[in-house]
Amino acid sequence: MATAVDTRPPRDGPGLEAISDAVDAINVFKGRATAEESAFDNPSVFDADKDKTTFRRYNEACDRVKAFYAEQHAKQTVAHNLAARERFYSPDRHRPEMTVWEAIEKLNELVDDSDPDTELSQIQHLLQCAEAMRRDGKPRWMQLTGLIHDLGKLMLFVDGCCEGQWDVVGDTFPVGCRFDERCIYPETFAANPDSYHEVYSTRHGIYEPGCGMDKLIMSWGHDEYLYLVLKDQCTLPREALAMVRFHSFYPWHREGAYMEFMAEGDEELLHAVRAFNPYDLYSKSDDPPRVEELKKYYLELIDEYFPQKIVKW
Ligand SMILES: [Fe+2]
Ligand SMILES: [Fe+2]
Repeated sequence: MATAVDTRPPRDGPGLEAISDAVDAINVFKGRATAEESAFDNPSVFDADKDKTTFRRYNEACDRVKAFYAEQHAKQTVAHNLAARERFYSPDRHRPEMTVWEAIEKLNELVDDSDPDTELSQIQHLLQCAEAMRRDGKPRWMQLTGLIHDLGKLMLFVDGCCEGQWDVVGDTFPVGCRFDERCIYPETFAANPDSYHEVYSTRHGIYEPGCGMDKLIMSWGHDEYLYLVLKDQCTLPREALAMVRFHSFYPWHREGAYMEFMAEGDEELLHAVRAFNPYDLYSKSDDPPRVEELKKYYLELIDEYFPQKIVKW
């Protein structure tokens, strides 16, 4: 019997976290710029020191993030996306079984915070996001969504679910239609063969205007992976599933691209994703949460929406 070639991606957790942080730094910076332009009278939530830190991190992040997106944009093709979904649903795929809390601990352990660029562990980011929502009196389902929204990053360690960092993190966009200029570094899509495809390169591509956001094949990554895991294994509302599925879809929820594909009911989802976003981006500077003290509260919350407790990943 021939020895199978190991094509699994290197399990580079710290590397993933570093690029994920750099991507976030740019989104924080861009969000700040947008806020400055649009709402002059909003009270500033940033002090001057934070601004400088953000700006410095933005500059450092730029080269690295640009190289990351060059790879992501070249490789996220329709073909890759169909193959990724086929692998996800393949009966041959070993699906680890864990509770949500076990998944949080696993992600934290795998994507450890030994990288000097990384300021926060995964568990801290998830808890901060949820705690900020809880402080603001957001509904319990939304707090839980904050707690779990990045668990899709576990895909880096689940056999056959991804090829590298480029199909785990980063902003997302639909494939199968023309890449919008409002995506970050749009010029890098020139290296994607779909840019020259006779159908995929047209404005609407394989879709109809008004088809609904759920019809779009979103670029493969931790958002889509977690959405597929959750959609029939929890009782969270559709707004929560949209927050998970589209939280990295900045071209849509921030830049207003791809709006022509929205159908009736999608406005509520866009509203939900926009309500979620500040907690993801801006709760990172809060004080580190005390995991052991908060665990009981969140275990009960998880049980409320995951009645069968064990999740197939
Ligand atoms: Fe994320
Ligand atoms: Fe996040």
